Amino acid sequence: MCKNSPEHPGDQMDFSLEQRSANNGSPEPFLKWAGGKRQLLPDLMHRIGRLGAFRRYHEPFVGGGALFFELFRRGAIKEPAYLSDNNPNLIVAYQGVKNETDAVIELLERHRARHCKEYYYEMRAAHPTSLAAKAARIIYLNRTCFNGLFRENSKGEFNVPMGRYKAPRICDEPNLRAVAEALKKAHLDTRPFQSVLDRAKPGDFVYFDPPYHPVSDTASFTAYQKGGFAEQDQRALAAVARELSTRGVCLLLSNSWTPLVRDLYADFAIEQVFARRSVNSRADKRGAVAEALVRNF
Ligand SMILES: C[S@@+](CC[C@H](N)C(=O)[O-])C[C@H]1O[C@@H](n2cnc3c(N)ncnc32)[C@H](O)[C@@H]1O
Repeated sequence: MCKNSPEHPGDQMDFSLEQRSANNGSPEPFLKWAGGKRQLLPDLMHRIGRLGAFRRYHEPFVGGGALFFELFRRGAIKEPAYLSDNNPNLIVAYQGVKNETDAVIELLERHRARHCKEYYYEMRAAHPTSLAAKAARIIYLNRTCFNGLFRENSKGEFNVPMGRYKAPRICDEPNLRAVAEALKKAHLDTRPFQSVLDRAKPGDFVYFDPPYHPVSDTASFTAYQKGGFAEQDQRALAAVARELSTRGVCLLLSNSWTPLVRDLYADFAIEQVFARRSVNSRADKRGAVAEALVRNF
């Protein structure tokens, strides 16, 4: 089980109140991300409120970072945060927004002004070299591509066709500035989830949101990039969770509600919750689905 921060023993945080800071709900995720956790935020925040104050925050499958931004807005990120993912393009987008905010905004404004079908495919094939240009390209493609999917072919090339949006929000300057501010406290790395073991200490809090174990073969959401996330990865993740737990690190994990997941986390508190999925190629499958929330506090 986990240890709360010794400096703030038993500090409960009331996240049930719909309190937002004066900045209109920003920062919020600046990328559309498959498996984004917006729908599940109330369930996640409710449980984190019970945990109380924690030390450092780790999110090793950060994706769009919905929970990190929500925690930042609620003032819960007091110490450095460690955000990582094994998708290098994603982390480049975060690094660009953090370190080259003005340049990324300027380039996104240019992409916005020139956006059309030809320009989209020109940018899709481009290989910019500077951090700002790489980040702006990724954000531009992400905001304008089909369904906000982030799919790459076997050569690691972004291969999603253009989406049919009337007015895609390509450059949301106030949000990008708020994101850059939130990321000042964050370490950003491209790394596999196992490396959370190198950093997490007692009293820290880790949120794991892995590619979900498929409920059926056709329901797989695991094709984020080459490689996928197989059953052996789910098993390796459960082993990491057990190791962190014995160290006194607090953790919360979301996954699908399947026999494998229930079995892997049988030693933890595990609850069933229902969330709506928004990224699904078949509109008729956009209903509420059962998910598992696993925790050690
Ligand atoms: C369900 S998504 C996370 C969604 C995120 N919580 C959000 O709100 O947008 C899972 C993420 O895990 C990443 N991922 C897949 N395999 C990984 C691995 N072995 N190590 C680290 N990250 C991985 C993917 O790139 C993807 O961003």
